[in-house]
Amino acid sequence: MQKKFIIAGNWKMHKTVEESIDFVKTLNNKIAENPDYARNNRVEILVFPPFTSLHALKGISGKTQIGSQNIFYEEKGAFTAEISPLMLKNLATYTLIGHSERRHIFGEADININKKIKTALKHSFTPLLCIGETLEEREAGNTFTKIKAQIDQDLEGLSSEAINKMVVAYEPVWAIGTGKTATPEQAQEVHAYIRELLEKKTAAFQDIPLLYGGSVKPENASDILSQKDINGALIGGASLQVEPFFAIISSSFKIVDQ
Ligand code: PGA
Repeated sequence: MQKKFIIAGNWKMHKTVEESIDFVKTLNNKIAENPDYARNNRVEILVFPPFTSLHALKGISGKTQIGSQNIFYEEKGAFTAEISPLMLKNLATYTLIGHSERRHIFGEADININKKIKTALKHSFTPLLCIGETLEEREAGNTFTKIKAQIDQDLEGLSSEAINKMVVAYEPVWAIGTGKTATPEQAQEVHAYIRELLEKKTAAFQDIPLLYGGSVKPENASDILSQKDINGALIGGASLQVEPFFAIISSSFKIVDQ
C-alpha cells in the first residue's frame, strides 16, 4: 500500500493574527514552488492556529488545511469562553481533541473527549484525537494499558463508520516539548498496538491515519515517518517557524515518493 501522510502543526498559544497570516502565506509559497508537491498529492498539510486567527485565514489558506485546537460539545448556551461547532463552521476542517495539555493542565476527562468527538463528527469536522502515556506510566510498564483505556473510553459508542472518519495521534506525554523523542521503534510499537485496537472496531483499520507527536524535528522526521504504521506527524515547537516545518514536509514528500 502506498503511503499517505498528514503533516500537522499545532501552534498552541502562539502567534498573533498577523503572524498567522504571514506564516500561512509563506508556507503556501514554498509549497507552490516545490516540484515534489506538484508530483504527488499524498501529503496533506494542516495547521492548528489559535482560535483568534481562524477567521483571518479563511480564503488564504490555499493548500494548507486549517484545524481548531479544541471544540466544545454543546452548540450554544452559558459556557463562558467555550467555542461551539457552529462557530467553527467554514473556519476549520479538522479539530484537535484531547491534546495532552488539555488533559493534564485543564483536567479534560475522557468522558468529555468522547462527547467532543461525537459533536465534531456530527458537524463534519475531522477529529484528530491525541492519546499517550506519561513517563510514570511508561516506566511502570503501563503504556499499553493506558493506550487501550484511552482508545476504549474516547471512542465509546462510535460506529465503525464514525471511527473511519478520524485521525489518531500517539503523543507520549514525556516527549512533548521536552526534546525527548520516542525512538522510531518505540513509536512504531505503540502505533502497531493502536492499529490492533482499531481492528476490533472497524474493518478499515488500516486506512485510519495514525500520527506521531512529541519533539518531531527536521533531524528525526525521516526515521519516524518511515515506520510502517506511522502516517504523519503532529508537530508543536518545530511548526512555529516555516523553515523547520517545511523541512519536515519535504522529508514526507521524499518518503511517499519512494
Ligand atoms: P512538540 O509538541 O513537537 O513541541 O513536542 C507536540 C504536540 O504537543 O503536539
